[in-house]
Parts: sequence; C-alpha cells; structure tokens
Amino acid sequence: MARLKTKFTCQECGYESAKWLGKCPSCGQWNTFVEEAEDKKGGNTISGLSAKAVNIADIAADIEERFSTGINELDRVLGGGLVKGSMVLVGGEPGIGKSTLILQLCQSIGGSFNILYITGEESVNQVKMRGNRLGVDSGRLMMAAETAFSAVEKLINETQPGLLIVDSIQTVYDELLTSAPGTVSQVREVTLRLMRLAKTKGVVVLLIGHVTKEGSIAGPRVLEHMVDTVLYFEGERHMSYRILRAVKNRFGSTNEIGIFEMVDSGLEQVSNPSEIMLSEKPENTSGSVVAASMEGTRPMLIEIQALVCETGFGMPRRMATGIDYNRIVLLIAVLEKKAGLGMHDNDAYVNVVGGMKVTEPACDLAAAAAIVSSFRNRPVESGTVCIGEIGLTGEVRAVGRIEKRIMEAKRIGFKRCIIPAGNMKAVARMKDMGDMVIQPVDTIGEAISLI
Ligand SMILES: Nc1ncnc2c1ncn2[C@@H]1O[C@H](COP(=O)(O)OP(=O)(O)OP(=O)(O)O)[C@@H](O)[C@H]1O
Ligand SMILES: [Mg+2]
Repeated sequence: MARLKTKFTCQECGYESAKWLGKCPSCGQWNTFVEEAEDKKGGNTISGLSAKAVNIADIAADIEERFSTGINELDRVLGGGLVKGSMVLVGGEPGIGKSTLILQLCQSIGGSFNILYITGEESVNQVKMRGNRLGVDSGRLMMAAETAFSAVEKLINETQPGLLIVDSIQTVYDELLTSAPGTVSQVREVTLRLMRLAKTKGVVVLLIGHVTKEGSIAGPRVLEHMVDTVLYFEGERHMSYRILRAVKNRFGSTNEIGIFEMVDSGLEQVSNPSEIMLSEKPENTSGSVVAASMEGTRPMLIEIQALVCETGFGMPRRMATGIDYNRIVLLIAVLEKKAGLGMHDNDAYVNVVGGMKVTEPACDLAAAAAIVSSFRNRPVESGTVCIGEIGLTGEVRAVGRIEKRIMEAKRIGFKRCIIPAGNMKAVARMKDMGDMVIQPVDTIGEAISLI
C-alpha cells in the first residue's frame, strides 16, 4: 500500500517542510507547524481564464462597475463602492460587529442581483434573529448554513448570486484536502476557488476573517495577497465606536476610514466624527489640547491629553496611547532642549481620546502643547486648535491641506488656530474665515508663549 505522504506547514506564513520544526525558519514563529497530507492537485494560478498574452491596447476596457453598498462610510473606505468581480476580506476581533455590518449591507446594497449568505459559524436561525433586530428583510437575501465547499459551489450554481458572503472563511473547507478547516492549506485552497469564481462569473465575494491574538487575519499572509481589498474593523471593546480601515485596496485609497457606532438597532454611521471626539472635552483643564488630523481626505478634530507628574522612581516614565511612543519621547526631548522644560524628574502620559490612533506629524504641536499645559498646570484657552509638525531643532514645520483643517475647526466652532508660519501663504488665500484668529508660529518656543 502506498504510504500517505505528509508535509508540515507553518500556520503563520505557509512555509512547508518535510520534518516537524519547532521554529519556522521563514517567519521565526514558534510551534506553528502542523502536519498535513500532501495534495497532488495543480498549482495555484487562475487557470482556464486565458492562456495567451494579449496586447494591452486590444483589451476591451470595461468600465469599473461599482455598486454602492448604501452605507456611505463603507463606500468611502471601499473607494466608492464594491467593484464587480472583486473579493473583499473583512477582518476584526471577535464580537466587534463584522457579521452585523455585512448583514446590514445585504439590506442596503443597490442593484437587483441575488445575495447568498453562507454562515459557517451561526445557524440560519441566529442570523435571522439578528436580521430582525437590524431590520433586514430583503427578499433578495438567501441564507445557508454550510461549510463544505462542494455544497457552497452547488448553492452558488443554484442561486446565481451577484454578491456572495462567506462568514467566515476559516470555517469553510474543501473535502478533497485532509487537513482541518481553518488551516493554511484549507483557507488558501478555498479562497483560491472562490477567487476563480469571482473573476470568471463577476460575483462580488465578501469574506469575513478571524484575527489572531496578534491582530492579523488568521491563516496565511497569502490570503491578504490573494484578495483585492482587506478591511479591518476595529475599536475598543467597551466603547461603542468602531473604525473601519482599508489595509489594502486595489480599487481605492487606503487612507480613508469609516466610523460607526454600535447601538441596539445595529451599526449607525457617524458622519460627524469631530463632534463626537470632542463631545466630552473638559473645559479649562490643563493637559487637553485639540489637534486637527487628516484621515484620508477628511479632516478630523481630535483631543490629545497629557498628564505630567513627579516621578516616584529614579527613571521617569513615558507612556503613549494612540500616538507613537517614540514620537512622544522625541517631542519631550525637544521641549527640554528648546523650551527649557525640566522633564527629567517628571513622568509623562499622553493619550489620544476616543480610542483613535494618530500617525500624522501634524499632531505634534498639539501633543507638545498638551505636555506643556500639564507640566505648567495651566489650561490652554478653550476654542484653540494646534496644528504643526515639530522638527528636532524646535522649528514648527508646515503641514499639508491646512485649509481643510482650519475649515473643520471653524465648522465645529473653534475660534483660534495656532499654525506653522510656513502655511500662511495658503491661509492668506482662504475666504470666509469669519472671526477665526490665525496665529502663525515659527518655533515651539513661540507656540508655547501663545498658549
Ligand atoms: N441587542 C444588542 N444591542 C446592542 N448591541 C448588540 C446587541 N446584540 C449584539 N450587540 C453587539 O453586536 C456585537 C456582535 O456583533 P457581531 O456578531 O456582528 O460580531 P462579529 O464580529 O461577527 O463576531 P464573531 O467574530 O463572533 O462572529 C456584540 O459584541 C455587541 O456589541
Ligand atoms: Mg460573526
């Protein structure tokens, strides 16, 4: 009898080995090798589509066909809607609201095609109960609790959907493979077959994926390479706000974010994030400063808080949440050297309110102002927004799209903007400034004297 050939595959990166290994030589992870039967099936290319090369000039260029999902925040992240024949992966922590978002999409999406919802984790009853709560009763929506790929394929042929939803990709398995559902080879194979289907039939495939402890989508990294768009749904567990981000998008920008609030009746769009981020901002308290950050093309006002207090140990502590730790250490060093702040025996904690993460250097000035305000225990005058990047020599550098940031501040009702002097040219061209006071600064020292 022929011996069953097996191989060992790293569940993190897909590296294959003939022997079991404790540490993966490719990605360096420990204990990730799982024994799997070797499959003699063909390679992993989209075969059967076209076997000959064509000149780019001769390709009939279909206009990218997009469907609006009916949810503006989702459309924004997708770059204007779902593209026909594309494959989208939605990842996120357990219970964050992936299934809720996708079920709401089934109700709101435009077009007249059928929707097939494959649920591998919940029974159709459970999904129906959620549907009742969310007000989903679309006549186009077909449901099936299936996990075997052949059954899924049969259902697709029967219902001919324009949109296929698989919740979740880790539960679907191909019977021809012996490895367990959710393993690298299963996830890769099933995704590949679904991708072939999406490209040949022009079906939009929406996959829901689990994330690992480390926060990446469970299964091989190749999964993220295979699909067209990867969206991450994130948020603090105890907060009702959820942020949808594109990590990869073949049909749009990855800078845009969508903001939702989880309420009884499902996910509600938050079209006015600045107001919510600032809704609980304390007035006349030291250590709280408003920054204007750009999230994609949308300006957003964010509150940055700092707490500076005397250190109890020999080594002062620095902590940063929602903003790069190294950036904070650097800003403190600049403040010490250029503004004469004696921070060497003070702890500093900096936090971006509302679970937001800022990566933009344009928020430097606000973070530095918050630290100084807390250090001196003097509040920054209310109605002030600080914008600017801080350089190592203490200079305040110009930032991009200053007009949008200032207009957002004006819209929310702020009265004063401290901005880099280098941005004044652009500001001088702006109209309808109302009673907004613009104060240009060249250095961090000047900025501190203003607050
Ligand atoms: N009645 C309710 N009122 C308010 N929020 C609710 C209610 N029921 C559920 N939720 C919210 O919905 C979340 C679950 O959403 P959902 O099942 O869509 O998450 P998921 O990301 O699909 O999770 P999983 O990974 O387990 O599939 C809960 O964590 C809770 O916050
Ligand atoms: Mg779910």
